[in-house]
Amino acid sequence: MLTTTQSSIFQLTEEQLAVQAAARDFAQSELWAGVIERDEHQKFPAEQIKKMGELGFMGMMVSPEYGGGGMDTVSYVLAMEEISKVDASCSVIMSVNNSLVCWGLEKYGTEEQKRKYLPGLTSGAIIGAFALSEPEAGSDATSQRTTAEDKGDYYLLNGTKNWITNGTTASVYLVIAQTNPELKHRGINVLIVEKGMDGFQTGPKENKLGIRGSDTCSLMFNDVKVPKENRIGEDGFGFKFAMQVLAGGRIGIASQALGIASGAYELSLKYAKERKAFGVPISQHQAIQFKLADMATNIDAARLLCLQAAYDKDMHQDYAKSGAMAKLFASKVAMDTAVEAVQIHGGYGFVKEYHVERLMRDAKITQIYEGTSEIQKIVISREILK
Ligand code: CAA
Repeated sequence: MLTTTQSSIFQLTEEQLAVQAAARDFAQSELWAGVIERDEHQKFPAEQIKKMGELGFMGMMVSPEYGGGGMDTVSYVLAMEEISKVDASCSVIMSVNNSLVCWGLEKYGTEEQKRKYLPGLTSGAIIGAFALSEPEAGSDATSQRTTAEDKGDYYLLNGTKNWITNGTTASVYLVIAQTNPELKHRGINVLIVEKGMDGFQTGPKENKLGIRGSDTCSLMFNDVKVPKENRIGEDGFGFKFAMQVLAGGRIGIASQALGIASGAYELSLKYAKERKAFGVPISQHQAIQFKLADMATNIDAARLLCLQAAYDKDMHQDYAKSGAMAKLFASKVAMDTAVEAVQIHGGYGFVKEYHVERLMRDAKITQIYEGTSEIQKIVISREILK
């Protein structure tokens, strides 16, 4: 069983500590037992996500008026860390639903859109997806080939989206598409597409290296008629919408990376105290002590960056830079820590029962999705140079 860690500088409130404890209890009692099997068989955690909805983890920051938890971003970071320590597949489903879909809908949706979609999304009855990436528009997100032709009272949607988290299991998709190519990124819109709309199909589930319990696939739109009332924001707002939700989404993925690192570290600490070599527990060998010291230091630094970004967002300060810094750093810490965790475990680290090989595979995606590490450096350097 994993324990939890508290930040020493950020004084967490009673409420935030209660959220952290609830997430930890849930992760350890409900997620730990089946996580290896879900990973191995790419089994979507449907039951677990349903429970996460019942416990309020699927719409944590949404106002209670729309069924959400009305919590702050700091609480969200704490919950994401605890859930990611055990199952990063559950936490990516949670992160996309919270940060990209619910947050975007609540912040920019019409009253009617909010009332229609948020209660289902926050309760876990339905899941949301965010569709920006395309076969030729990943990092270069302005180069959208998916088109949303304005036909008066509806948009005609055509194109393909790639790498969509919650792709086959979602019911509601926020789809970014180009309406007026002459206006470049200012001619892009964001449309709410529902599963079952004529002409909308999902591709097969990708067979991934990590986060294998979550489902990722392509989306195909072939003359899908999307009513005008399903557009979020003004005409041409889609790209700014995507950038805004991704700025917050990066705090969620940074916390996921933090959780993967913490999970790998805590398992290593426990193992190092139990495993004996050369007559003593391996924790008494300096080679292991130095690894544990590096892990603990990096994890504390990553946690502080995550909390700083969350605090900036809660204080309505600009969080594009702090969120990108948190994601850049925490994802590197996740990767480095998980690799070292496998090393500390030796041969046991290479087999599934000890969990750290899965954490190592899961860590890699945190350096890729919601903007690669190189994209985070672009965002950070633009902010510091402007
Ligand atoms: N908030 C609001 N607006 C923003 C913004 C922000 N944080 N960042 C940029 N913008 C606006 C700019 O102001 C600009 O608007 P105007 O021209 O009207 O002033 C517009 O967006 C274009 O900005 P740039 O000129 O900076 O655009 P760019 O093409 O040079 O690069 C980029 C921007 C940062 C590289 C961007 O393309 C990017 O973030 N790419 C990565 C995309 C990404 O993260 N994809 C992840 C897919 S989603 C995912 O992974 C989810 C999942 O499944 C887990």
